[in-house]
Formats: sequence, structure tokens, C-alpha cells
Amino acid sequence: MAVNVITICGSLRKGSYNRIVMNALPALAPDGMQIREAPPIGEFPLYNADIQNSTGFPAAVTTLGDAIRASDGVIFDSPEYNFGIPSPLKNAIDWVSRLPNQPFAGKPVALQSASPGPVGGARVQYDLRRSMVFLDALTLNKPEIFIGNCAQRIDEKTGRITDEATVGLIKQQLAAFAKFIASHGGKS
Ligand SMILES: Cc1cc2nc3c(=O)[nH]c(=O)nc-3n(C[C@H](O)[C@H](O)[C@H](O)COP(=O)(O)O)c2cc1C
Repeated sequence: MAVNVITICGSLRKGSYNRIVMNALPALAPDGMQIREAPPIGEFPLYNADIQNSTGFPAAVTTLGDAIRASDGVIFDSPEYNFGIPSPLKNAIDWVSRLPNQPFAGKPVALQSASPGPVGGARVQYDLRRSMVFLDALTLNKPEIFIGNCAQRIDEKTGRITDEATVGLIKQQLAAFAKFIASHGGKS
């Protein structure tokens, strides 16, 4: 049976560089790993405990939580906003984190970020790692994927990663993620 990995994009922008990277992943996955996009986060209401305590969790939140629980691993593809996690993604993590049988607990997670800036979104990854620590997720350490100066490595017109070194690094990370999942009791 294939390893079932889901991806969550931190950018809601149609032409998002991070979405282009995310969309490239299925073709770069090692044999036996299936990658597909998680249910969408864009329509989540802003987190408010009063919603949770009155009408309950929004259906979209429950759907994402179910998909995370059912997966063998989660990959975040996210830009960095003001040195941190973009609000739609943080909002989604906050909602999911309040679900019973917290979906990220024990879940293998890998991080990827792209930015037109030189640092490639490195700082958002430290924020994501910190949130994943609190949620008891298991975040892959290496290889790290920071796609800096991404406008030179990703063609937003064709929606393709044009830089072969970046493609190679992503393949390496996905292969490492498959091993990481297997070593933590997931499918190999
Ligand atoms: C609100 C906001 C804050 C941003 N802050 C950062 C930042 O801290 N570091 C960075 O490298 N780029 C920053 N950027 C630029 C984004 O990296 C750039 O817009 C990128 O294309 C967004 O990712 P996307 O193409 O996947 O939508 C910011 C952009 C926005 C809209």
C-alpha cells in the first residue's frame, strides 16, 4: 500500500510560488509515495473559541483534521509573512489543534518554503517547527528546502520549477521523508 502524504499550502494566492512547488511534488515523489493536496483552508473562519463552543467545529476544519489523521505524513509549502506563519495557515493550525484526538500528534511533517527574497522563507520554518513541537508532530530535520530568489528558480508563467538543483533537493527531501515515515512506524 502506498504511503499517503498530504500537502497544505500557506498561500491562498492563485499564482503562488509555494503552490507551484506543492503542485510539483507528486511527480517528484519516490516510488510508493502518493502525494495529494489536503482539503482547503481558505474558508476557515477566524479562530474563535465561541464558535467551537456554540455551533461546534466548522465542517471544513473537521474535514482537514480527518485528512491529517488518515495521512501518513503532512508537507507544508508556505511563504513567510513578516518573518512568521501566514495568518490563513496559522489559523488553520489553530483550528485543527483544538480537535479531539489532535490530528498532528505523532504525525510526520516536512517543511518547504519559497520566497523571492534571499532567505527563502527560512524563518517561517522555525515558526512552523515550534508549533509542531507543541502539537507533538514529528518534523523532519533534513534536507531543508528553502527556495530563495524563487522568481529565478520557478517560472510563474508555466507553473514549473526551472532550477534543476532545486528539483533535485526536493526529490532528496521526499526520499528522506519516506524513510522518516517508515522509521516512525508508517508504511515503507
Ligand atoms: C504580508 C506579507 C508579508 C511578507 N513578509 C515576508 C517575509 O517576512 N519574508 C519574505 O521572504 N517574504 C515576505 N513577503 C513576500 C513573499 O515571500 C512573497 O509575496 C511570496 O511570493 C509569497 O508567497 P507565494 O508566492 O507562495 O504567495 C511577504 C509578503 C506579504 C504579502
